[in-house]
Amino acid sequence: MLPTHGNQREGLRRQPPGPGLLSFIYGVRTLGFLDYVGKLWRQYGDVFQVRIGRRTLVFAMHPDSVEHVNVSHRQNYDKRGSYDAVRSYLTGEGLVASTGELWRRQRKLMAPFYTPKGVQAYAELMIRDGERLVSRWQTLARQGTEVEIAEEMTTITASIILKAMFSTETMESIHQMKDAVEAMITFVSAQLAGVGLPAWLPTAKRRRYDAARQLVHRSISTLIAKRRSIDEAQWPDDLLSRLMKARDDETGQAMSESLLRDESITTFFAGHETTARTMTFAWYALATNPQVTQRLHEELDRVLGGRLPTADGLRQLPYTLQVVKEVLRLYPAAPFYVRDALAADQLGGFDVPAGAAVMVSPYYTHRHPQFWNHPEVFDPDRWTREQESSRHGYAYHPFAAGPRICIGNNFSLLETHLLLATLAQRFTPRLRAGFQPQWTMQGTLGIANGLPMVITAR
Ligand code: HEM
Repeated sequence: MLPTHGNQREGLRRQPPGPGLLSFIYGVRTLGFLDYVGKLWRQYGDVFQVRIGRRTLVFAMHPDSVEHVNVSHRQNYDKRGSYDAVRSYLTGEGLVASTGELWRRQRKLMAPFYTPKGVQAYAELMIRDGERLVSRWQTLARQGTEVEIAEEMTTITASIILKAMFSTETMESIHQMKDAVEAMITFVSAQLAGVGLPAWLPTAKRRRYDAARQLVHRSISTLIAKRRSIDEAQWPDDLLSRLMKARDDETGQAMSESLLRDESITTFFAGHETTARTMTFAWYALATNPQVTQRLHEELDRVLGGRLPTADGLRQLPYTLQVVKEVLRLYPAAPFYVRDALAADQLGGFDVPAGAAVMVSPYYTHRHPQFWNHPEVFDPDRWTREQESSRHGYAYHPFAAGPRICIGNNFSLLETHLLLATLAQRFTPRLRAGFQPQWTMQGTLGIANGLPMVITAR
């Protein structure tokens, strides 16, 4: 039984409970980070901590804490030391890890690209890529061979984001860029998990990382130089052109080349793996919940009748969106995110020391028994308007919350809604018989043993 939120005591100052360092290391080694943190939650309640050397890691699972950290007390929670590895090895000064005035300026410049209206510009290319995957899956369905569905979804989301950003067209360039950024992410994930050798050692992994980074930086610099060499009126209408044309309100200045590069890498890194995972988990959820699949098929058949979806027509497919939202609840691609406490504070009645890294968790808040009935059950009916409006406003935060909420949330909801409608209308991927996924946290939520499926045509 969970001590359902029982350890929160307003006004009483005390340290959060938690395991010793050796127990924590042993627990993570034996159960894996994701499951062990769940065990600690059941044992200690909504706020608990672990001390790692001089650092304190505080876990906070209650929706009130999500609001506290992201909204009401956000001035005290920033992206500092916890983001150093991401900043140094991946995103540089890009939006995910930047702070202060730079973050505020960049967020303001980029926000218009990602409004519900702004992302409509990318619907056509999402639909076109979906259609291409339909052709590929028709062949796969005829062959009846098993495919790794995660790979299928990673390729299409990489293709979509690269076209949206750079108007990249050839599959060769798409694979090259995708593989290079994935090599960079693998290196950073090992650094974050503390399982890599020191980053400066010239290991094979470090050399692979250096080569990947060089390729990514060179490709983006070449793209920028090519655009600068032609008239602005001929630039394609993609995210890179929008970034290059953007001017600061006050100074009138354009972004420097290194900032353009950092924002491009950041968008690719933040925008493709998360969406790929969400689509992968959607296929798993459908394969294991046949009654949901049946209702989804009923809606798609009735509304689309074999036609491709359009961005305007998505309003007619509410159940499809409910499925996506429920996938993001039960299998949030970002199961944890972290904020560094600038000054001492209190969370749920417990002391949080200055400098603590506060981990909030979509994965566990979305399973909190005070806010979700039968939380482990996949049930898209949780997303009817009535149910949604009667829930705690921060019980659901797959995209984080407050001013630093995911800037790409409208983009990814549009993409997953369109892709699921296009593909589920025609195909039913089936899981290998007896397959049991091993859920893990590898920076993003993942399935360690992959997701082998056979594509069958409906
Ligand atoms: C299902 C897909 C997605 C999920 C679950 C997701 C989740 C998140 C989360 C939890 C954060 C906060 C991270 C933190 O505070 O450390 C975030 C931030 C961010 N995401 Fe996403 N994301 C998704 C798709 C996208 C897409 C498609 C893009 C871009 C096109 C994108 C771009 C960003 C950026 C730039 C930030 C940093 C925003 C800021 O700090 O101002 N994401 N995302």
